[in-house]
Amino acid sequence: MRTPFIAGNWKMNKTAAESAAFVAEVKAGLDAITGVDVAFCAPAINIPAVAEAVAGSKIGVGAQNMYFAESGAFTGECAPNMLTPYCQYVILGHSERRAYFGETDEGVNKKAKAALAHGLTPIICVGETLEQNEAGETNAFVSGQVKAALDGIPAAQIADLVIAYEPIWAIGTGKSATAEDADQIIGTAVRDTVAALYDADTAAKLRIQYGGSVKPHNIAAYMAMDNIDGALVGGASLQPSFIELVQNAI
Ligand code: 13P
Repeated sequence: MRTPFIAGNWKMNKTAAESAAFVAEVKAGLDAITGVDVAFCAPAINIPAVAEAVAGSKIGVGAQNMYFAESGAFTGECAPNMLTPYCQYVILGHSERRAYFGETDEGVNKKAKAALAHGLTPIICVGETLEQNEAGETNAFVSGQVKAALDGIPAAQIADLVIAYEPIWAIGTGKSATAEDADQIIGTAVRDTVAALYDADTAAKLRIQYGGSVKPHNIAAYMAMDNIDGALVGGASLQPSFIELVQNAI
């Protein structure tokens, strides 16, 4: 009932020309894999080039951030309707944006509502620090992030968004959470929280990704878990072996 979804978060990597060349290299291979949604989330300036490169394929396009206002004096930001001609997805509240650029739960919630109002699928990121993990605070913290991000979003829109659980200590470190731990946290802190906020049916429709050092060799273990519906992939989405990663996900 939940279509698996593998999204590449390119972060601040690849020029427009490099992005287009990479898509040309992996497009046919990714297109041949059915039963899974795939997208690349590119830096804003490269989005039109990526959209042009994926044209005619099943590959979706996402942004890595967005502002919630319609327009105005917000230097350096992109409005939802600037993304919609090119994008189906937008990553919101990535831990790097929270840590380096001051993103708050309240801002993520406003952005999620704006994205949904414009027909963009938000990929809302949550996840704990190493200190919180070691202090046994993971479930409470992640559950709180989920509640804050979804505040005021009606049940009918939950199937139109994605939540990515990315433990901060697993991002770019090669130290991934075990599939069992990720499934347990995703099941309790994310899906059970959504069930408590709405109802079991609504929670069952929500797609939840794991993110943090996902590679071609470990994706299958995550996908075998009941509560994990896909992955948000950083470093491994920059390589042609991303095709293998997606293949191993189904
Ligand atoms: P890595 O896959 O490089 O650990 O990055 C994960 C991530 O932050 C995706 O958003």
